Amino acid sequence: VRDPRAPIGVFDSGVGGLSVLQALQAELPDERFVYLADSGHAPYGERGDAYVSLRSHTIADFLVQARGVKALVVACNTATAAAIHEIRSVYPDLPLVGIEPALKPASRESRTGRVGVIATRGTVSSQKFQALLQSLQHQTQFAVQACDGLAHAIEREAAVSAVAGGDAESPAVEALCARYLGALGSFGEEPGEIDTLVLGCTHYVFARRILSRLAGPGVRLMDTGQPVARQTRRLLSSLDLLAPPSALHGESVQLLTTGCLDDLQNVARHWLGLSASSCQSIAV
Ligand code: SIN
Repeated sequence: VRDPRAPIGVFDSGVGGLSVLQALQAELPDERFVYLADSGHAPYGERGDAYVSLRSHTIADFLVQARGVKALVVACNTATAAAIHEIRSVYPDLPLVGIEPALKPASRESRTGRVGVIATRGTVSSQKFQALLQSLQHQTQFAVQACDGLAHAIEREAAVSAVAGGDAESPAVEALCARYLGALGSFGEEPGEIDTLVLGCTHYVFARRILSRLAGPGVRLMDTGQPVARQTRRLLSSLDLLAPPSALHGESVQLLTTGCLDDLQNVARHWLGLSASSCQSIAV
């Protein structure tokens, strides 16, 4: 029997999932969260399924067994694609929420019928993504680009810029974004142009301003933080596992990292206003 007062586990290969954590906190203000950034083993997007699957299992085991989480949110597109089915089979009773690129809402909302998708190589080459793409291809034309190096560059830049009090914008991130958006085709609101861009990796949310500027006015950017947060609420509610109101005392978020503690603390503080007092470096 799970305890509604137990925390919700959230993990990602690094800081990208903090954008999902932010949406979760807004949707579920009475909940406690344990966020694990697997930065010591990132980037997931270019490591291959077997590696990402092994890491995801190890982290799920740790969060369930050592931290007693009542639910798990896989706040990483690459890890969801590689491992969500298997995590579900190991923990059939654990409320589990994954994340997938917002192709469906993008397809619904695009007026030109052309949608651009950027994600990691791991995500775009996964069966899960390909099946989703195929299910929507009759109504929308998708241009898909695997963005090698982008999540990693953003992760690094997010940490540096957090210290400097700025945005995750650097010539390196901008050059990569320009190259990958350029490869997708032309953006705009005219027929034949891409009017909707799906951010298929949680890290890319930190480069939103650059991406939006490069794509140009009128192009809609779609990420998945809010829908995932709403889905988490629905799932917990259906299982009677929502935390009782005002059960929260002290810190509501505990941050864990397998990588650099300062980087995670700085990004969490600068981008999400999270206090660093409950940030811990771990080896799993
Ligand atoms: C990465 O570590 O390559 C990013 C993975 C992801 O968010 O999909």
